[in-house]
Amino acid sequence: MHDIIRQLEDKREKARLGGGRKRVDSQHAKGKLTARERIELLLDNDSFEEWDMFKEHRCTDFGMAEEKVPGDGVVIGYGTINGRLVFVFSQDFTVFGGSLSETQAEKICKVMDQAMKVGAPVIGLNDSGGARIQEGVASLGGYADVFQRNVMASGVVPQISLIMGPCAGGAVYSPAMTDFIFMVKDSSYMFVTGPEVVKTVTHEEVTAEELGGAVTHTNKSGVADLAFENDVEALMVMRRMMSFIPASNREKPPVVPCDDPAERLEMSLDTLVPDNTNQPYDMKELIVKMVDDCDFFELQPDYAKNIIIGFGRMQGSPVGIVANQPLVLAGCLDIKSSIKAARFVRFCDAFNIPVVTLVDVPGFMPGTAQEYGGIIKHGAKLLYAYAECTVPKVTVITRKAYGGAYDVMSSKHLRGDVNLAWPSAEIAVMGPKGAVEIIFREEKNQPEKIAEREAEYKAKFANPFVAGARGFIDDVIMPHETRKRVCRSLAMLKDKELENPWRKHGNIPL
Ligand code: HXC
Repeated sequence: MHDIIRQLEDKREKARLGGGRKRVDSQHAKGKLTARERIELLLDNDSFEEWDMFKEHRCTDFGMAEEKVPGDGVVIGYGTINGRLVFVFSQDFTVFGGSLSETQAEKICKVMDQAMKVGAPVIGLNDSGGARIQEGVASLGGYADVFQRNVMASGVVPQISLIMGPCAGGAVYSPAMTDFIFMVKDSSYMFVTGPEVVKTVTHEEVTAEELGGAVTHTNKSGVADLAFENDVEALMVMRRMMSFIPASNREKPPVVPCDDPAERLEMSLDTLVPDNTNQPYDMKELIVKMVDDCDFFELQPDYAKNIIIGFGRMQGSPVGIVANQPLVLAGCLDIKSSIKAARFVRFCDAFNIPVVTLVDVPGFMPGTAQEYGGIIKHGAKLLYAYAECTVPKVTVITRKAYGGAYDVMSSKHLRGDVNLAWPSAEIAVMGPKGAVEIIFREEKNQPEKIAEREAEYKAKFANPFVAGARGFIDDVIMPHETRKRVCRSLAMLKDKELENPWRKHGNIPL
């Protein structure tokens, strides 16, 4: 018995050492934590239950039979974040560069399968040189096994990826199918083909960081949601994000105690919208003043800034917030912002998180770049996402809600539950200037007449009352009472039930 216990301790010790002291030092020298250090920071103290610590690869080619490290380059198991169950896998770069062997894939699949059975999130900490080269196609098969599970788990349990080292080639597609991606600056990258191949094929010279670093993916491509200075920051923010989302699609999001009164009035909001309708203002001010304790968790803050997405709480219950940002491109909808918001709305809908939409949108972005890029199809994604969404939907129009964009932004017609408007709302087919130029084209050389027509159009349509008269707006509210009215609406909608017709799946315009 003593022998076995000693053997067990030896094996544990060996597994904990991963690829050995030298490689651990090298990992630290790059500013990266080890797989186990990351798990320790991510999970509540002493909550981690590790599985498959002794699992080894079965490869015998290229001298691999003699090179075995217990655990084989990935640490898996479950634990808690703020007391709530999560499953986790963390690739260990010190063991064959964290490369994915058949064994490693089996371990990742094991936690994914278990997470699906019990209904808990899967958090993947990625730090890997890709397919285990010595294993060849066995490794590729392993990737595909993980991909299949990513798809099956989509919309069933939240899946979140932290990219904390290399993630290249087909390996990027597992994180790509997860709900959110966090990246660490300067030490992580994601690309389908690396700088060398890019140079050969397209003759572009680019560094790994420029091609697929955290800043690139949070500013240019929109592949990642947030970028962090280091591992610790990424892990701490991950813990915070988990507080907004439920463990599975069978649960409601977690409610926290709230001291911020639902009835709190914010008088300063009465002057947020400038008198000049073409002057921008910061929609984030409304978001921050509306949510509990001014606590807004923004996602993709540096990508498609003309739309804002993120989580907040109203009376302790999480909500997803989607808001046009008049400060950027006048808040119009374009390809990037439509895709950004559509994916977020679908996440909220899949996981029972009510959506609060704040609208100030002059329309879709005109131009050849947008049309050639497929704004028709991409804009339709957001329309589709809102239309199929069955969670509580509360909408507040602060100013412009023009044209098709009015319809898209969680309008009454797309089953918006409560649609409110500020007195400054202008709900119309288009802005007064554009409208008059079209319907009174023959008067275009008579500036006085045109000005008169514009004033007439403005008085008639640039207000919330025409839509209100039809019931498209449930009420016109004072800006200062926005929090109160949205809180009440959400409380009323707490037990909302709505189902879409049965179908195998819809065909969202991809
Ligand atoms: C086996 C690997 C490995 C891999 C790295 N290592 N990648 N072992 N399979 N894919 C090992 C190295 O031999 C080395 O072992 C240790 O990990 C650390 O690697 P270094 O090169 O010393 O580290 P670094 O300088 O930081 O460079 C990291 C790296 C580089 C950029 C990831 O290792 C690299 O380019 N690796 C190959 C990447 C690759 O081509 N992967 C396959 C892609 S195809 P020692 O013993 O010296 O510590 C693919 C397809 C996926 O992934 C398809 C899915 C559908």
